[in-house]
Amino acid sequence: MLSMAFGIGVLLALSGSTATNGCNASQQLVSKLVQLMKDFAEVEAMPIPSLLLALNLVRDTSDYAHKWLLQWIKEVAVTRAQKDLTSGEVALYVLSLFSSCQDPWHVQAFGKTIDLVQVLQQKTDEEVAKLVADGIPKSTLYSVSLDALALCLARAGGYRVASVLLAKQVLSPDSQLSVDTRAVAALAMTCTYRQMDLQDLKHLLWKALSNVTNSFLNEQEKRGGMIGNIYSMGLALQALESTQEFYAPRKWNSTQACNVVFKHDYNQSMAIAQVLPALVGVTYLDVADLNCTTNNITVNYTITNTLPGTPFSYNTTVHVLAGSVLLKVLERAQEEEPDNFSFQTKPTSWGPMVISIHGLAADPDRGTYWQFLGDGVPLQEGVGTYKPRNGEHIQANFTIYKGKGESTMEGIKTYL
Ligand SMILES: *[C@@H]1O[C@H](CO)[C@@H](O)[C@H](O)[C@H]1NC(C)=O
Ligand SMILES: *[C@@H]1O[C@H](CO)[C@@H](O)[C@H](O)[C@H]1NC(C)=O
Ligand SMILES: *[C@@H]1O[C@H](CO)[C@@H](O)[C@H](O)[C@H]1NC(C)=O
Ligand SMILES: *[C@@H]1O[C@H](CO)[C@@H](O)[C@H](O)[C@H]1NC(C)=O
Ligand SMILES: *[C@@H]1O[C@H](CO)[C@@H](O)[C@H](O)[C@H]1NC(C)=O
Ligand SMILES: *[C@@H]1O[C@H](CO)[C@@H](O)[C@H](O)[C@H]1NC(C)=O
Ligand SMILES: *[C@@H]1O[C@H](CO)[C@@H](O)[C@H](O)[C@H]1NC(C)=O
Ligand SMILES: *[C@@H]1O[C@H](CO)[C@@H](O)[C@H](O)[C@H]1NC(C)=O
Ligand SMILES: *[C@@H]1O[C@H](CO)[C@@H](O)[C@H](O)[C@H]1NC(C)=O
Ligand SMILES: *[C@@H]1O[C@H](CO)[C@@H](O)[C@H](O)[C@H]1NC(C)=O
Repeated sequence: MLSMAFGIGVLLALSGSTATNGCNASQQLVSKLVQLMKDFAEVEAMPIPSLLLALNLVRDTSDYAHKWLLQWIKEVAVTRAQKDLTSGEVALYVLSLFSSCQDPWHVQAFGKTIDLVQVLQQKTDEEVAKLVADGIPKSTLYSVSLDALALCLARAGGYRVASVLLAKQVLSPDSQLSVDTRAVAALAMTCTYRQMDLQDLKHLLWKALSNVTNSFLNEQEKRGGMIGNIYSMGLALQALESTQEFYAPRKWNSTQACNVVFKHDYNQSMAIAQVLPALVGVTYLDVADLNCTTNNITVNYTITNTLPGTPFSYNTTVHVLAGSVLLKVLERAQEEEPDNFSFQTKPTSWGPMVISIHGLAADPDRGTYWQFLGDGVPLQEGVGTYKPRNGEHIQANFTIYKGKGESTMEGIKTYL
């Protein structure tokens, strides 16, 4: 179960991802490329999520093209993500939705809802399993790099393993990874590096990141600014833009690399979509920093005890980031009203378990426990994995195991 993410909250406050160089392209060039990209989007047979991602990163979100592309992406996500898309394609869908301030955990279209992050985790697990077993992924290492990047930015489980495997591939003398693959792998490993505290693994990622960035810089110096070919420049620029710490104290002459891009007349949608962020000095890592107040969801939370003893009931309304696990709701309620919503958990092999709320503790001997319900239906998942929906009413109800027959009565008696 590589993708279990017990208790890992969605912490979007990325530090250190702010780009400092950038190509400082003229607004005129940016507008021209944005228009070209929109024209291309209209004649495609399938939506290209990279285009939406680029529009969001350059903050060109107000017109019809953006709305239409977003809707199309949602429609394809609910109808085809599971069976027709590769892991890397799903990763780009997740990134494009995320950058549009949409909730990739609950994508809705045609009256259907899909958890696209879960689809991505499942597909990433398959890639990783094959990579571990056979030394090659199910699709490509480029896809696996996108998977790790999207999962890391969403703070969903599974990206650490994928990033570590990518680092090993980068450092293996036998692997011949393209510039595109190494660039996206560098973005994914950077995100992971900033999230990780295991020193051994950080060291491995550091080595791989230092290798990729220095080899890009070497190539740029040798080839007058070019890294790979003109179509890989967008991703290479994004990678160098966001990884200064791994090639410091060496400096990057971004002017030289940007000049190569400026001189080319791009006429291919994907290349434009990848180069546009770099032209304005942002990268895919900045997706997590986009100002999405609509990424918040509202959850009503009620705690109730009707069993003999001290009956109580408190309710509150909290705002958490879309995709947060239930534990975040409990934590937010506790932060805001510690007197009413204090709680305690204990770690179990299934993740954190709530053992006490408002000072009232579960008692296995009496069969009492805190049961969680979502809109009145008992939850099948733990607080560390269940992700409440916007507007959902979560109840924590102090109750007694059903089916204990007489022992239920016993439970109550003992409780008294
Ligand atoms: C970016 O370019 C504009 C003019 O095109 C200039 O005024 C500005 O100082 C430049 N900024 C940086 C950081 O180079
Ligand atoms: C990166 O690692 C590869 C494989 O070990 C090696 O061949 C290459 O020289 C390294 N490049 C740099 C710049 O360290
Ligand atoms: C960076 O590259 C540009 C263009 O090739 C060159 O004119 C400039 O001197 C370089 N800057 C540094 C600091 O090396
Ligand atoms: C871009 O490429 C298409 C064909 O791929 C061609 O029809 C069009 O004229 C080109 N546009 C420019 C501005 O080069
Ligand atoms: C985010 O957007 C809101 C509403 O547009 C604005 O009030 C707020 O200052 C912005 N925050 C940041 C950090 O840009
Ligand atoms: C949640 O609480 C708010 C007021 O705090 C209320 O207006 C709303 O109807 C409640 N929603 C549900 C589903 O209970
Ligand atoms: C708590 O519940 C009461 C009664 O259902 C309701 O009037 C009130 O708005 C709720 N408060 C919050 C903060 O949800
Ligand atoms: C959105 O949620 C964040 C994190 O929970 C919180 O800090 C912020 O105040 C919320 N904003 C709104 C507008 O509810
Ligand atoms: C606890 O709940 C009560 C009743 O809902 C409310 O009056 C009180 O303000 C809450 N305590 C805190 C610290 O918010
Ligand atoms: C809450 O628990 C009590 C005691 O077991 C039970 O009578 C009641 O039906 C429960 N409420 C819900 C909404 O399940």
